[in-house]
Amino acid sequence: MSQFRKTSGHPTGPTGAGRRIYDLLRSQMADGILGPGARMMSSRALAAELGVSRTTVTAVYEQLAAEGFLTTASGRVARVTGALGVQEAPVKTRSERAKASAPTLSAWGRRVAGLGIPTLPQAEPARYDFLYGALASSDFPRLAWKRAYQEALLRPQHSLYYAPPEGDPSLRRALQGYLRRARGIACDAEQILVVHGSQQAIDLCARLLLDAGDAFVFENPGYLMARHCFEASGARLLPVTADQHGIDTCRLPEDERLRLAYVTPSHQFPLGGVLPISRRLELLRWAQHRNAWIIEDDYDGEFRYGQRPIDALQSIDTDGRVIYIGTFSKALSPQLRLGYLVLPQALVPVFQRAKRLADRHAPALEQQVLASLIDGGAYERHVRRMRRENERRRAALLEAIGRYLPPDTRVDGTAAGLHIVLWLPFLAAQDEPALVAAARGKGVGVYPISPLFAPAPQEGPARPAGLILGYASLTTEQIRQGISVLAAVISESL
Ligand SMILES: Cc1ncc(COP(=O)(O)O)c(C=O)c1O
Repeated sequence: MSQFRKTSGHPTGPTGAGRRIYDLLRSQMADGILGPGARMMSSRALAAELGVSRTTVTAVYEQLAAEGFLTTASGRVARVTGALGVQEAPVKTRSERAKASAPTLSAWGRRVAGLGIPTLPQAEPARYDFLYGALASSDFPRLAWKRAYQEALLRPQHSLYYAPPEGDPSLRRALQGYLRRARGIACDAEQILVVHGSQQAIDLCARLLLDAGDAFVFENPGYLMARHCFEASGARLLPVTADQHGIDTCRLPEDERLRLAYVTPSHQFPLGGVLPISRRLELLRWAQHRNAWIIEDDYDGEFRYGQRPIDALQSIDTDGRVIYIGTFSKALSPQLRLGYLVLPQALVPVFQRAKRLADRHAPALEQQVLASLIDGGAYERHVRRMRRENERRRAALLEAIGRYLPPDTRVDGTAAGLHIVLWLPFLAAQDEPALVAAARGKGVGVYPISPLFAPAPQEGPARPAGLILGYASLTTEQIRQGISVLAAVISESL
């Protein structure tokens, strides 16, 4: 009997005759039809049997030999390799695989696996989606970006080798000027490290500054994606209450193993407070006495309404304690994945090394595009335009809240940023999930505030229901309609 069952149909399938013959031989090896040591047909005989050219069969044999499945020697017939245990293990069912022992993870891996990291919001956006972090795609400066991108693309390069881990020199220089003008920061370009968004900046801080068992101060409520990074390091969370002015510096703790504090002084996330100068100075003094780092996440410092944006905390740090983080996620797009750190001199070399180990460097072309937009003034013009746009959206939101929602509704965080917090004193925090689900049922996406509070060791005072409403991706009309529908949902739930 022939060694091969002739397959029906035309020998040249969609993936080519060679691929089909390769698959056929592999499956015969797996089934034991071609056991270890088995003699293969000569390429000529197999080609004749399958009705393909001899070259096709020879190429398949060479591929199988290169992968170690066949042993060939010139003038000898090819044989199935014996020693490699070509017999493949029987395919396990899904439940058998699940029962098999779990892969071993590092301590960090186990902690990450155990974190309740929130999934992305539903893929299908709600009709009126107050999704915090989303921007209107029509706000992206497409033309300016396209022009600068083409220029960068056409610029001749010696070769396509890796770029410097710390970032493109042109962007670091441009950022140095921008940070001085816009955020009051006086730094050298050498202190700037370009990263993949604030998230990578925070992750690098957690890896480089915290050990398991250390402690870190964190605003409560606070930015969950940062908290999880620090928790993944195995460090202990020391939550400090944030009020309408930001972190309450009277409550900063003592702890032997305290290493750092993460804060959002320009616009506390999520409550929206702007940290007053007295608290800023107190925070710096506290960090100095405890030899702790301060991580300043200035995620949306550009968006302050009515007044000039307040200078960064880093600008009054005389002791080299503050690690400043900025991002392009709020003014341009979170999909760019570009942000930067301004580092105290002492931390520059190790952060550059860690960045290089993590992913070599941020995308070079995009960095050059950003540098040219900043240098040519287009970026700052865009930020000013976005500030005006978002001020209009914010005004429409506040007007709609005043018009449609019950009078005892309270709003926090309106002075800056791209979101507000809506407090509903007539509902309890436990009512948030039902309210969020009911609103989504009517086409309105709103997001609960409770997950942003640190788990309380004991039952604290009852909190009212709170919602985070991002408004940067909506038109003023959508904002009005969304709030009027939300008002109907709330009144049904009372
Ligand atoms: C407090 C805070 N920091 C940073 C960011 C931005 O992160 P990234 O730069 O990684 O996009 C956000 C975005 O939602 C945020 O809320």
